[in-house]
Amino acid sequence: VSIRTATMQQVGASSSGPVSSLVTQKVLTADILAEIDRLAPLPTVVMDVVRMVEDANSTIADLERLISQDLIIAARVCKLANSSFYARNAPAKTVGDAVKRLGFKTIKSLVIAAGAGKSLTKSMAHYAYNEFGLWKHSLGLALATRSLARNLGLPFHLQDELFLAGLMHDIGKLVLDPILGKAGIESGWLTTDREVATVGLDHTEVGCRVAKKWNLPEHAVAVITHHHSVDSAADFASHTAAIHLGDYLINDAKVGLSEQAEVQCYINPVALDILQIDASIVQEFHETVANELPDIVSMCDELTRC
Ligand SMILES: [Fe+2]
Ligand SMILES: [Fe+2]
Repeated sequence: VSIRTATMQQVGASSSGPVSSLVTQKVLTADILAEIDRLAPLPTVVMDVVRMVEDANSTIADLERLISQDLIIAARVCKLANSSFYARNAPAKTVGDAVKRLGFKTIKSLVIAAGAGKSLTKSMAHYAYNEFGLWKHSLGLALATRSLARNLGLPFHLQDELFLAGLMHDIGKLVLDPILGKAGIESGWLTTDREVATVGLDHTEVGCRVAKKWNLPEHAVAVITHHHSVDSAADFASHTAAIHLGDYLINDAKVGLSEQAEVQCYINPVALDILQIDASIVQEFHETVANELPDIVSMCDELTRC
């Protein structure tokens, strides 16, 4: 498998194709900002769980009671807790078992993930995704990056943070998708340069605003903002570099993408420098992801059905 890394020309390349007039672009940018304002918050149960996890007086029973109020979220949390990505020893039959097994912090990530899953499964007309494509791309990336982090021996809390950030990294596309329709863009691979040229903002900037509105943790905001511009990532640079790499691997494996999609993604060499790895390790990651792909795909399908 050959590994594509970006040349300087590709990193700085500008978009080709139709560019809207500045006036149209400004109108569309205003539409995007209005759309972010209108965006529904994360489900109340998610916000309540986040608050409860931060509260030192909360008990496992409190958390179980709260999560069980939302059947879909409860089912997704149990499925993830029992998947090969998390499961250890006996299966978690109840949400309480899952909380006991995984701990409050991991459960918090899983609940945010399960809650956001409702938004991420929305169908998308652009970006070359197939049915539930953004969800499969995001969850696939989250699971793959988490297991790469485990293989690299990164601490457990970091594996968890990467899972959440990975799941959310392209959240801006949810808001941009209908606006791209207004701009007359056809379905297909879309670079961030092309997004800016068409609607004035790209999915990283839009995603950053959504993440702040949803009060996502700082590491997730940093990853969402810089996963296509690793060079300018200041805080959480390792998180951002890991997700950038995971994005490349999962796109290369075409998870969530239509068969005809022309994948145009590259590894920014800066990401490899930040992670202190070389191309031979990327080759190993390719193999790890390829081996785990059946598990990743079936997990995505199972959670979609919840
Ligand atoms: Fe992205
Ligand atoms: Fe992505």
